[in-house]
Amino acid sequence: MLLHKMRKKLLLGNWKMNKLASEAKEFALASAPFAALAKKNNIEIGVAPTYLSLATVKEFASKDMIVAAQNVHFMDHGAYTGEVSVPMLKEFGIDWVIIGHSERRAYDNETNQKCHDKMKVLFENNMVPVYCVGETLAEFEAGQTKAVVGRQVREGLADFSADDVKRLVVAYEPVWSIGTGKNASSEIAEDICGFVRETLRDMFGSVADEIRVLYGGSVKPVNVKEYLSCPNVDGALVGGASLKIESFEELLTNIL
Ligand code: 13P
Repeated sequence: MLLHKMRKKLLLGNWKMNKLASEAKEFALASAPFAALAKKNNIEIGVAPTYLSLATVKEFASKDMIVAAQNVHFMDHGAYTGEVSVPMLKEFGIDWVIIGHSERRAYDNETNQKCHDKMKVLFENNMVPVYCVGETLAEFEAGQTKAVVGRQVREGLADFSADDVKRLVVAYEPVWSIGTGKNASSEIAEDICGFVRETLRDMFGSVADEIRVLYGGSVKPVNVKEYLSCPNVDGALVGGASLKIESFEELLTNIL
């Protein structure tokens, strides 16, 4: 069996700052049929709602759906106004968290070091970080993609063990392709996801073959299959096209 075939495909919706809790509940209540379809086809699916909808989605969605937070603080509790901690997520059974999304890097000063501190707590708690990396348009045009992504991977994951990172998911999301409709070609996605895996192999050895590397950035039902056909692309992190139930379902059926 080819090594990449060992990795279960993963389709994850990042809802960003979208959906009222009532709308999130509607989506969750409709999730049973497509969650069952995904399970039958050995594909993992999930969504990352806002903090205010996490508990609702966790309660009403199919138990086969991953429910992920979009961020977390690295301290357990304390004087950190506006933040939410790991124990608070765990109380609701949430153990997946998106870390270092480019929008948080851009608007909330999320550095590689901060991402590292957050992932440390997640690994200590047997949780799953979805660590986002990706270059800006200026960096892409200057031919710096691998330098930037390599640094994000090496600094964000510095000093962890192979045992820690076996639960990790990495998402390569070129900033210039997020929400722009301007996709990275599947060749670029394969090249950079492969580069991420090589970097992980250099850092952690053969566990790199078990770590899922996703592509994200203007993934739509019409192009999702092309990305997931690439040997080093193990799934997709989808923004806009994950919001509507029909569109999410179509993303799934198009990769079956
Ligand atoms: P879009 O799919 O809307 O481009 O967003 C991608 C993304 O940022 C997922 O995290």
